Amino acid sequence: MEAVLSSKFYITSPIYYVNDIPHIGHAYTTIIVDTLARFARLKGKEVYCLTGTDEHGQKIEQSAQKKGKSPKEYVDEISRNFKNLWDEFGISYDHFIRTTDDYHIKTAQMAFLKMFEKGDIYKGKYEGHYCISCESFFTKFQLIGENYCPDCGKETTLLQEESYFFRLSAYQERLLKFYEHNPNFILPKFRRNEVINFVKDGLEDLSITRTTFDWGIKLPQNLIHQDHNNAKHVMYVWLDALINYLSALGFYNDLEDRRDFWAANYHIVGKDILRFHAIYWIAFLMSLDLPLPHHIAAHGWWTKEGAKMSKSVGNVVNPKEVVEAYGLDCFRYFVLREVPFGQDGDFSQKSLMERINSDLSNDLGNLLNRLLGMSAKYFNNALQVDLENLKKHYSTEFSQINKVLKSLETYMEEVQTNRYLEEIWTLFSLGNGIIAKKEPWNLIKEGKNEEVAELLIFLANLLIKSALCLSPFIPKSAESILSVFGLKAESRNYKKFVLENGLLPQIQLCAIPALFPKVENILLEEKETKNSQNPTTNTPLEITNPILKEDFFKIEIKVGTILSAEELPKSEKLLKLQVDLGEARARQILAGIKAHYTPQSLIGKQVCVLANLKPAKLMGELSEGMILAAKDEKGLTLITPQNLKKNGSSIS
Ligand code: ME8
Ligand code: MG
Repeated sequence: MEAVLSSKFYITSPIYYVNDIPHIGHAYTTIIVDTLARFARLKGKEVYCLTGTDEHGQKIEQSAQKKGKSPKEYVDEISRNFKNLWDEFGISYDHFIRTTDDYHIKTAQMAFLKMFEKGDIYKGKYEGHYCISCESFFTKFQLIGENYCPDCGKETTLLQEESYFFRLSAYQERLLKFYEHNPNFILPKFRRNEVINFVKDGLEDLSITRTTFDWGIKLPQNLIHQDHNNAKHVMYVWLDALINYLSALGFYNDLEDRRDFWAANYHIVGKDILRFHAIYWIAFLMSLDLPLPHHIAAHGWWTKEGAKMSKSVGNVVNPKEVVEAYGLDCFRYFVLREVPFGQDGDFSQKSLMERINSDLSNDLGNLLNRLLGMSAKYFNNALQVDLENLKKHYSTEFSQINKVLKSLETYMEEVQTNRYLEEIWTLFSLGNGIIAKKEPWNLIKEGKNEEVAELLIFLANLLIKSALCLSPFIPKSAESILSVFGLKAESRNYKKFVLENGLLPQIQLCAIPALFPKVENILLEEKETKNSQNPTTNTPLEITNPILKEDFFKIEIKVGTILSAEELPKSEKLLKLQVDLGEARARQILAGIKAHYTPQSLIGKQVCVLANLKPAKLMGELSEGMILAAKDEKGLTLITPQNLKKNGSSIS
């Protein structure tokens, strides 16, 4: 409803972290944002389109250190890379925000203060497992084993840190009500339940300040005056980051006041950060008593030939290179058309080439070329027909066109760019189909010039309407197509030809160079990936003798302590052990380890025992289990828990 009533349209991209080079994932999000912004402008809306960079936090502080730069030097450089790229790509943003900008810092501090004064922020203790060498906190679930750092494997210490908390738990019910009353808030709709279930599972208060590093926004002065300890705190980077959407509009700062653009129509994000937007951000806004955004739209993930893109694998696709090789509009078309919104997509030059050759070159490019060719040859580029006859003779086709045009707006509202494009492409099939059916080259021979002129004017109108609808997606190419007819991609033309079904009965064509030349071979050399050293989980592995989980669950492995060990005189290999598994009596186990361990050295050792092995007699002696050991060319070692465990503890 609001979309119709309000003439203001506010759309945002995520602000990207400055610890990485921009890759096609970032470009994809930004291109979607740009397309929606252009579409809104085409419809005559007043648009504010925001993008920028997220520049605080420990990770960025560390990245700067690694490069031997000060954080500010470092973020200036990388932020510039993003901005330059969007400029080269002609992204139609109205403002580029940096979280290190003064006005943003002011807004973040004011927002913090407001939430604090409201009683939604309180001081508490944040407890976590701290890895000194990585300077990071980890939750219990992230640790390896009981206590080991998931990054470097070193032992962590349980530490408490003073921290401010946001009362997220208090917003659980209001959030659920909000999702319920706004079924289209989360797009695509299939992601909605994911968020709702997460909230239903219970929300914990959110730690929103840190004291273990410096590279972040300080707390508001008022709070530091109250208690000098507060000077140690910096804001959690996600609180800082989300608030950017307000800073840019001049909330709580001295920037030009654009607050009438709030609330955002769309926050476009990747699925990785949907939760931060759909839950935390909404709760923050509720706390600030501000209106809530209309949509959070989360797209899927791009992979490169099936693998996750990462610097260490060396398979990151650089969007700048792709655009330089294949052209901006071809790249835009590819990403917007290739995947259903919300689904993951795979990038390869081969699929990009296929899209260019079949959709752009064959379907669209050819249609335009045929129109240009025949108009020049048969009519010297000047054509005119009777409007009423045109409408009458092509009434079925025009109603099909109008139906398609009508459907487009809904696809756009749901950010289904692929469906939108698919629909337009049905019109090119229609156009190419009619040429094949009517065979105008024969009609001309038969002297039916009037009929041919009508056909060509029909095609011209089809292309005008399509090009207007395509202009948000492939702006340069759409402009070129429209220039053939002396038109521009302006909202009055959109209104006339798309919304009001207007038709031109008379045209004067102006030739343009061929739009989408075919691509014969891939244009970028494929980089060697470091796959062999650094395989990702997407590289399939040969699993020998696979078993099902159910089979594994039948196995009981337990920790036990060796109480005694003695040689079996008759055996060269076996030792006879008594092992305490925390049961009524110790178990007797025969183990083939005589060549590797003296009996004396085993006493008191903890080992891992296969405990539900059917008891058996070996050399006349009962054995009630099996001791686990690892073997390589250097010999055999018993498997021992990393630190002392209760006898009978199970291993899984
Ligand atoms: O998360 N496929 O920044 P970020 C598709 N600073 N999209 C991808 C992608 C991929 N492989 N990789 C990245 C942050 N993206 C925060 C955001 S907002 C207040 C703060 C895109 O640099 C996608 O949009 O890690 C994803 O959500 C975003 O980049 C994450 O960028
Ligand atoms: Mg990320």
